[in-house]
Amino acid sequence: MTTAGNEFAGRVALVTGAARGQGRTHALAFAERGADLVICDRCSDAPGVGYPLGTEEDLAETARLIRALGRKVIAVTADTADRPALEALVARAEAELGGVDVAVANAGVSAMSLITDHDQAVWDDVVDTNLKGVFNTIAACAPGMARRGYGRIVTVSSMLGRTAVPGQAAYCAAKWGVIGMSKSAASELAPQGVTVNVVAPGNIDTPMVRNDNLYRVVRPDLDEPTWDDVAPVLQQNHAVPIAVLDPFDVTRAVLFLADEASTYITGIVVPVDAGAASRTSA
Ligand SMILES: NC(=O)c1ccc[n+]([C@@H]2O[C@H](COP(=O)([O-])OP(=O)(O)OC[C@H]3O[C@@H](n4cnc5c(N)ncnc54)[C@H](O)[C@@H]3O)[C@@H](O)[C@H]2O)c1
Repeated sequence: MTTAGNEFAGRVALVTGAARGQGRTHALAFAERGADLVICDRCSDAPGVGYPLGTEEDLAETARLIRALGRKVIAVTADTADRPALEALVARAEAELGGVDVAVANAGVSAMSLITDHDQAVWDDVVDTNLKGVFNTIAACAPGMARRGYGRIVTVSSMLGRTAVPGQAAYCAAKWGVIGMSKSAASELAPQGVTVNVVAPGNIDTPMVRNDNLYRVVRPDLDEPTWDDVAPVLQQNHAVPIAVLDPFDVTRAVLFLADEASTYITGIVVPVDAGAASRTSA
């Protein structure tokens, strides 16, 4: 699916965490394929997260790029942990664009803490965004989709939603939780024509990975680690010898699961992880 068609014409797609990174790539792919967009981002940093998050300028740039493709966009600063804010956004989408057909619960943060000295701020920030935020996105969008008898929900987990590494208790708890929650929602919503599926990315080339904080975590043996020091370590997470995938590699899977034709695919997890899933149990 490399050539943009018009398969989402007449559809409205909501993407959380769309100021930059994978969220922006997903949003622009929907716009290129004919959808109008509803996008949000918290546009502020989080105390437990050791790298800068998206900004108001980033979100405005995503909105500008969507408009430049000739599509409508509602863009708001909203934290996915804030359920009333998401419900207000969906209500606005229903009033102005006719309702949300596709929802991608993409917003996420990464932060590490050892269990022997677990920072409360890390737990709160990671679980609030990566688990509660995904729940809130589903809970805000599902009622309208169920009423209209059509919906495609894609949630974002991680290869760390199916395996675990040291220092990632909060991230793993949230990302494993996304899978269980999504499967439960899928079974509930199946009779209403609403699918719920999960993508589980490997290392993706976004600011979540390309930041000094992660470099120091990955290479604590070096004073000033660089990307060249970190890339060989990250590559070990994958079976295919590549350190990071392009965000659009994940977008391809999101587009497939969001497509009208994916009617009978629900409750599954699609790993886009250069073969990391080949090392986990079924
Ligand atoms: N980059 C990777 O290697 C990788 C791997 C596996 C899974 N993921 C997941 O992919 C998703 C996208 O991450 P990315 O790689 O694009 O990272 P990113 O940091 O580039 O983008 C994430 C965006 O989400 C926004 N955001 C964070 N918390 C939010 C909240 N509570 N409400 C609204 N917006 C919020 C940030 O401001 C940022 O703009 C996340 O769920 C992440 O956990 C990423």
